[in-house]
Amino acid sequence: MSVRFIDKYAKEFIDPAALSAMGERLVAAEAKLKHHSEGNDYKGWYDMPLNYDEAEIAAIEKAAEKIRTESDVLLVIGIGGSYLGARAAIEFLRSRYYNIQKKDTPEIYFVGNSFSGDDLAETLALCEGKEVSVNVISKSGTTTESSIAFRFVRHMMQKKYTNSEIKERVFVTTDKEKGALKAFASREGYNTFVIPDDVGGRFSVLTAVGLLPIAVCGADIRALLDGAAEMRRKIDAGGLDNDAYRYAVLRNLFYEQGKHVEILGSYEPSFRMMNEWWKQLFGESEGKDGKGIFPASVIFSTDLHSLGQYIQDGKRVLFETIVKQKRSRHEMFVPANAVDIDGLGFLSGERMGAVNDEAMMGTMLAHTAGGVPNLVVEYDNRDEHDLGEMIYFFFVACAISGYILDVNPFDQPGVEAYKRNMYALLGKPGYEELQKELLDKIHNIE
Ligand code: PA5
Repeated sequence: MSVRFIDKYAKEFIDPAALSAMGERLVAAEAKLKHHSEGNDYKGWYDMPLNYDEAEIAAIEKAAEKIRTESDVLLVIGIGGSYLGARAAIEFLRSRYYNIQKKDTPEIYFVGNSFSGDDLAETLALCEGKEVSVNVISKSGTTTESSIAFRFVRHMMQKKYTNSEIKERVFVTTDKEKGALKAFASREGYNTFVIPDDVGGRFSVLTAVGLLPIAVCGADIRALLDGAAEMRRKIDAGGLDNDAYRYAVLRNLFYEQGKHVEILGSYEPSFRMMNEWWKQLFGESEGKDGKGIFPASVIFSTDLHSLGQYIQDGKRVLFETIVKQKRSRHEMFVPANAVDIDGLGFLSGERMGAVNDEAMMGTMLAHTAGGVPNLVVEYDNRDEHDLGEMIYFFFVACAISGYILDVNPFDQPGVEAYKRNMYALLGKPGYEELQKELLDKIHNIE
């Protein structure tokens, strides 16, 4: 049971002199991570797996048990770091078909992660005739997408339940004292879980933000945290040459060679939402001050039939990080056919896992030959422990990589721009001047 980083397939792209020149920057980056530096207020995730709050975990497990016993559906309201990790973990640990699988745990749907009325209506329709619990998650407590969705969900709940029943069914995960959501939860007497002050949204999956919905699907959240703690111990034991730092350094090395796009690729469709989680983690952490690797993602071999052409032959600005699953959960063997009409008789009796592995190796060799360096992150099993290791590996790699790039990996000033424009265009009081400016702009365009 473990996760490891492998760089041997990228050796031809690694110039030893350039690599050793990164040494000083790595030392400085580590010092920033471990000691006082920009972003210091948001490094609570770093030590958390080593000394998590037992009472908090027990309370999360108790709430999850209550939701599992009383509800057919859990609606999770949140966006960005307040939803991606939980959704990714549930699809990875259970299945991307979790909601339609036969099971004794509730269906789990995610809303409030867009402004689409269609999506919201279609999801709320799935709750008809079912017992529902709600977990609304927002650190700031003021995010528009989740606040609007919560309005709709509350209206739905009010039609189904009395106020005292609603109190038993709504779980709020937010700041311990700030924000409109906290104030509202206190007023209504909802169950609350706290997002620690020093953990930012995209680093919060191992707090109540991710752990409550993940526990509801029946996953073992202690094993997840144990996996994260194990990765932390491995990182500490490795000194400067640990897996997470090597990944962070090589990303920066490739970036400096003009490889400005990193594609995270997996050969497991259950990893699709993990890709999304990873893109947010790295994109929001590094893309600032006019710098940063653009994080993209693929599921292979699916996307070999769409983006494969570009990766092999398009503009040479790419490198890939392939996340490889070592053991399949299900042993599937290619069936034999009486007549070999498709010419694949040579594969009869072959394990699907072996077919997948050879597809991966063949693709890595082809992409490498095409000028795309390939790094590998390998995990043994699709389970809680390895997922915890992988999450923590990416957390540390992301923080170190951001510091090497000389940005603050823990802020996200850029996401405010769309919000200001949107508020102005929607006529929010206080935004009158900006509204006029934007309407003039739109008028000139049209
Ligand atoms: O990583 C982040 O900080 C963001 O993606 C937030 O998670 C996202 O904007 C949602 O914010 P909030 O939890 O305050 O609703």
